[in-house]
Amino acid sequence: MSEDRSRLEFPNWLLEQWTGESVIVHPDRPTGALILIAIYSTQFGSACGGTRMKSYPDRARALQDALRLAEGMAYKWAAADLGFGGAKAVIDVPPNLDTRERPDLLRRYGTLVRQLGGLFYTGPDVGTTSADMDMIAETGAPFVFCRTREAGGTGDSGPITAWGVYQGLRATCEKLDGNPSLDGRTVLVQGAGSVGSALIERLCNAGAHVLFSEQDGKLIRHFRDEIGLEFIPAERVYNAECDVFSPCALGGILNEQTIPQLRCRAVVGSANNQLASPEDAGRLRARGVLYAPDFVVNSGGVVGVPGMELLGWSRSEAEQKVADKIAGTLRKVFALSDQAGIDMGKAARRIAEERLAHGSVERLPLPRL
Ligand code: PHE
Repeated sequence: MSEDRSRLEFPNWLLEQWTGESVIVHPDRPTGALILIAIYSTQFGSACGGTRMKSYPDRARALQDALRLAEGMAYKWAAADLGFGGAKAVIDVPPNLDTRERPDLLRRYGTLVRQLGGLFYTGPDVGTTSADMDMIAETGAPFVFCRTREAGGTGDSGPITAWGVYQGLRATCEKLDGNPSLDGRTVLVQGAGSVGSALIERLCNAGAHVLFSEQDGKLIRHFRDEIGLEFIPAERVYNAECDVFSPCALGGILNEQTIPQLRCRAVVGSANNQLASPEDAGRLRARGVLYAPDFVVNSGGVVGVPGMELLGWSRSEAEQKVADKIAGTLRKVFALSDQAGIDMGKAARRIAEERLAHGSVERLPLPRL
């Protein structure tokens, strides 16, 4: 088989190992992109997850990301106590996609979202913005969260997600030594994107000593040269000494190689799927690092945004709910871990699975399918 064929070959075998329900596979012929929508569960009718747009080395990597992220979303909705199933869309674009082709690609994707008739709701994720949500909603309304404020949405979900991470940091510090304050604590933020940059600002305002790591030259110059924060290059990010390490970039970064290097007391961040495998939560526990599970900590967007866009909450009401839910669920996770002698990953999954098994989550006012 030619190299290109094998790169583009559809990885059916990955579906065999997946415990979710369906994957919609939609080739976008004009651009050569592949749209994948993974629906993990329709237990509550509709499923929801962000739209990630990037170039993957091959289709297998793209599908794998969609499947894992959709499963993660199922746990995130359950941890947030809300009745959406887990889902995720991945748009695997050719590396040389002309930016002028992007709007039409997004509109065609929006049409697909509309055709699904409410089975799938979406919002922004890595590689997409609120402006992209506006374009998707031109053809995909009303199933699109986080449109710009001008277009009637609530805009970027980064700031409310970062607010949730900040609350997660406070609850974790309280568990560490009884004091939730970030004042004087050293926090290393990995990734200064939409969530990371908003978190950095909160932490600075709270008196924390903030270190950051980032790959984008413009963001590095901004936070290092204009704001005056200490920059940690990628090769030192896992063994830099800090109180809390906050991964706010991509997943899989806590693994057999990185965990032994860590010199922090806790890990609390917004990236989805931070653990390369579930056993990594046990590795963190064995090293005495307090891990606040990602899908609890990063649920600020999924609690706050549907609250504001579907339930009519004001931004300050949304912030209050996000703070209460994240701190409340984290305390339950910490207590269950102590009481049952299990790692934080298992404890968080057990709490989410219990909510799913009993269907005891809050239902959103969505049309019945
Ligand atoms: N990227 C978001 C997440 O992973 C997706 C999202 C944001 C979905 C806001 C709905 C509303 O949680």
